[in-house]
Amino acid sequence: MTVLIKGGTVVNADRSFRADILCENGLVSAIQETIEASKNVTVVDAGGQYVMPGGIDPHTHMQLPFMGTVTSEDFETGTAAGLAGGTTMIIDFVIPGPQQDVMEAYHQWREWAEKSVSDYSFHVAITWWDDTVNKAMGTLVNEYGVNSFKHFMAYKGAIMADDEILVSSFTRAIELGAIVTVHAENGDLVFRLQQKLFEQGLTGPEGHPLSRPPQCEGEAANRAIRIAEVLGVPLYVVHNSCRQSLEAITRARNEGQRVFGEVLAGHLLVDDSVYRDEDFEVAAAHVMSPPFRSKEHQEALWHGLQSGNLQTTATDHCCFCADQKAAGKDDFRLIPNGTAGIENRMEVLWHHGVGTGRLTMNEFVAVTSTNAAQIFNVYPRKGSIAVGSDADIVVWDPEATKTISAKTHHQKIDYNIFEGMTVKGCASHTLSQGKVLFANGKLDVERGAGRHINRPAFAPYYDALQRQALQAEPTPVRR
Ligand code: URP
Ligand code: ZN
Ligand code: ZN
Repeated sequence: MTVLIKGGTVVNADRSFRADILCENGLVSAIQETIEASKNVTVVDAGGQYVMPGGIDPHTHMQLPFMGTVTSEDFETGTAAGLAGGTTMIIDFVIPGPQQDVMEAYHQWREWAEKSVSDYSFHVAITWWDDTVNKAMGTLVNEYGVNSFKHFMAYKGAIMADDEILVSSFTRAIELGAIVTVHAENGDLVFRLQQKLFEQGLTGPEGHPLSRPPQCEGEAANRAIRIAEVLGVPLYVVHNSCRQSLEAITRARNEGQRVFGEVLAGHLLVDDSVYRDEDFEVAAAHVMSPPFRSKEHQEALWHGLQSGNLQTTATDHCCFCADQKAAGKDDFRLIPNGTAGIENRMEVLWHHGVGTGRLTMNEFVAVTSTNAAQIFNVYPRKGSIAVGSDADIVVWDPEATKTISAKTHHQKIDYNIFEGMTVKGCASHTLSQGKVLFANGKLDVERGAGRHINRPAFAPYYDALQRQALQAEPTPVRR
């Protein structure tokens, strides 16, 4: 299929300019001020619209077995919902159970993901440690295009990685040229607080945020950062929800450390009053970790994004419907943790970011696409509109308005955390591999058309880190 996107303004992370774009064989083949349409070319009229790199959501959980159930959204429906919102690539997570063979888990997730309708890649979680895990990390990096390893510092008794695991895995990651990522919450503290609150009779969802205060997150973020600093490994902190973790990242970056931070659209826009809703279904629908925070934290997170101390936006798309959330009706600790958002991330960020002047359009592209592509080393194949890049493109209508609702969204979940929010600016067309898969509200996708995207090790920042390490090498005292 050859597609010509005509009449729009190209918006990349570095600049904006008027141009037509030709997409052939899945790639961008030409970008010129004017390209005439030849025969057999599908023309997308982008007049008055912006043409941007497709969004990359670096944090999703499709078809995840978690807390006694499996997310309602799988790779096919989830990637389709992403396309409806302008997102053309996800980075999901392989999460081996405690003691599960890492390669077995990896192959299982790869099989599940084969039905994706757009491109995908995987971070792999390190949930336990022995020689086989050490070896698997090498295999994954050298043979399977994995360059990032995730560590859950929470979920004690399940997938939590303690400090010993962090140290072992971080050390191995440096040898391999991979980046390490953490879910930063002090799992021991959370466990204690959960027990205490439950014993005090606080059994409802309002107990969830109380058991996971911002201090638990700030402490864990700081601990992971300092461990990474000592070992000299690049670190990416996922879903920062509070001032405390942002401050830990900012401090480290000010000291020259290679630390990156992600923020979720939900944490920027939804506050913790949702947990005090009298309707269990509403409160439980918002149970995710870290929890939604007060407005003071939301403001801090916006500032983090504006200052560049937080570089990426994600959703942590992890769908559980009301019947699944009901497992925790009498005990908040049993409510499956997770909320949705892949379809809405770009439009809510545009509306509340670009629309309010907090972000420029170019910064919007950086935080929704380019920065993730660079950090996870798939740039400029992804995250840029350039000749030779994958033709993963969103045509963005800045004048279109829409009111978000679970009644109309494509996500396979019966609730939307942005329910009733009216946004101005949304995707009119989304192209993946040069094909128009979403146009004017309609999806036209093909099961299995998505590809696994290999991400090579030794991203450009690794070179800088290695030079730094050489400078700091200790010299023995000669006696
Ligand atoms: O509540 C959440 N975030 N569920 C998904 C797993 C995780 O912690 O990312
Ligand atoms: Zn997490
Ligand atoms: Zn997650």
